[in-house]
Amino acid sequence: MERTLSIIKPDAVAKGVIGKILDRFESNGLKIVATRKMQLSRTNAEAFYAVHAERPFFGDLVDFMISGPVVVTVLEGKNAMQINRDLMGATNPKEAEVGTIRADFAENIDANAVHGSDSVENAAIEIAFFFSERDIS
Ligand code: CMP
Repeated sequence: MERTLSIIKPDAVAKGVIGKILDRFESNGLKIVATRKMQLSRTNAEAFYAVHAERPFFGDLVDFMISGPVVVTVLEGKNAMQINRDLMGATNPKEAEVGTIRADFAENIDANAVHGSDSVENAAIEIAFFFSERDIS
C-alpha cells in the first residue's frame, strides 16, 4: 500500500467540482484516508512550495494558492502516487490527455485544478505537512 497527497486547488474548488474530482480517485481504486478543506496562509503556501522558491513562477503560484480555499486529501492504494499523476494529466492543461482531471477542469498552468505528489518520498513529506498519523484512517 502506498500513500500520496492531492490538493484540489482554488480554481476547482470555486468551480464546484470537488465531488467530481474526488469521484475520479475513488472510481480508480484510490481510497480517501484523510481529507480537509482549508484556506492556506501565505506562509503555508511558501513553505509547501519551497522547492520552487527560485522559479520565476513562484510568486504567482503562491498568490494563486491562497486566492481561495483548497481541499487537501491523502490517497491510499497500490501505486497511489503514479495512479494519481496519471489521473491528473500534464501540469499544463493544454498538454493534458483527454479525460484527465486537468484536461477536463483546468484553465491554464497556474490554475491547473490539482496538485499531486511527484514521488513516494515527497508524498510522505507533503502528507506530514498537512496531517498527523491520527488524522489518517
Ligand atoms: P503543481 O503540481 O502544484 O506544482 C507546482 C505548480 O507551479 C504547478 O503545479 C503549476 O500550477 C505551477 N507552475 C506555473 N508555471 C509552471 C512551470 N513553468 N512549470 C511547472 N509548474 C508551473
